[in-house]
Amino acid sequence: MRTVPLGKSGLQVSQLGFGCMGLAEFYGEALGQEEADKLLDAAFEHGVNFFDTADVYGCGRNEEQLSGFLKRRRRDVVIATKFAILRDDNGALAGLSNDPKYIRKACDASLKRLGVDEIDLYYMHRRDRSVPIEDSVGAMSELVDAGKVRAIGLSEVSADTLQAAMKIHPIAAVQSEYSILTREMEAEFIPACREHGVAFVAYSPLGRGLLTGAFRNASDFGKDDYRMAGNPRFSEEALAANIKLVDRLGAIAKEKDASLAQIALAWLLAKGEDIIPIPGTKKLNRLKDNLAAASTDLNADDMARIEEAIPEDAVEGERYAPAAQSTLNA
Ligand SMILES: NC(=O)c1ccc[n+]([C@@H]2O[C@H](COP(=O)([O-])OP(=O)(O)OC[C@H]3O[C@@H](n4cnc5c(N)ncnc54)[C@H](OP(=O)(O)O)[C@@H]3O)[C@@H](O)[C@H]2O)c1
Repeated sequence: MRTVPLGKSGLQVSQLGFGCMGLAEFYGEALGQEEADKLLDAAFEHGVNFFDTADVYGCGRNEEQLSGFLKRRRRDVVIATKFAILRDDNGALAGLSNDPKYIRKACDASLKRLGVDEIDLYYMHRRDRSVPIEDSVGAMSELVDAGKVRAIGLSEVSADTLQAAMKIHPIAAVQSEYSILTREMEAEFIPACREHGVAFVAYSPLGRGLLTGAFRNASDFGKDDYRMAGNPRFSEEALAANIKLVDRLGAIAKEKDASLAQIALAWLLAKGEDIIPIPGTKKLNRLKDNLAAASTDLNADDMARIEEAIPEDAVEGERYAPAAQSTLNA
């Protein structure tokens, strides 16, 4: 697989990364360690070198799931993790922290769970508006000075926050949701990233599964799946409407002899080499399906037809339930 620069960090990453979140939590049952290792090794063997996790995924378990893999492959992969989203003792989401003292503690805990000396890309998962961005990015910059972090990223911030952060320390990448169904970053935010040479890491590039056609009704979701309560796009009514929308891509996929997932990922890749999608899956066959998107070429006519089939803002329902939605664009 081709590699692309991660902003101006000097790091080179595969044009498709791997989102590890689902291995631990949120989308049904967690994977056992053996299965997780198989999947991570397969991703690596198929050319993926960019792996995404966060301390909040599985309350630290997702980082631990990666530690054996990192031991085997440390020199050959770029590992990204995140801090800021708090959980209480029962695992319930418990607000945000960007407090410098907290950031230092969270970084040490992530290093320990991952079993590495340095995090390649350390993201602020969400901005906590009560802490000046200068203070939080200042603390992240000290982690770079201390050799604990190589490059800094932000997630779901506003263009103004990005500009302010860049004055304190170079920002290598911003991670936000981006897919054919979620295009609100296109108007201002992605141009702002381009102006500063910041990579845009596209999370939930398959619309949390919606864009694959694999989830068609409530029974397609596993036990304890977060989406139906946490993402209004998956409420019964919205799901029915959104599936009809995604079905419109079927004809294009058939013509290209591609899966819907490949069309969704190839659409992002065609937007530019600074857009780096990080799809996630717990299944080996789906991993291979997704990675083949790197060789699914879409021309300008294909892109126009896809965007005509799913117009901007056509998706039904907000991305998150109100409390989480209010932390976006911060
Ligand atoms: N910064 C943030 O706030 C944030 C938020 C969310 C996610 N993320 C990151 O982004 C990564 C990816 O996003 P995501 O996991 O939310 O969503 P996604 O990659 O858009 O979709 C994942 C879902 O699609 C299914 N799927 C994947 N490939 C498939 C295929 N080829 N055919 C059919 N179904 C397929 C998966 O099910 P199976 O596992 O059963 O295959 C899973 O339910 C996460 O792992 C995480 O690292 C970051």
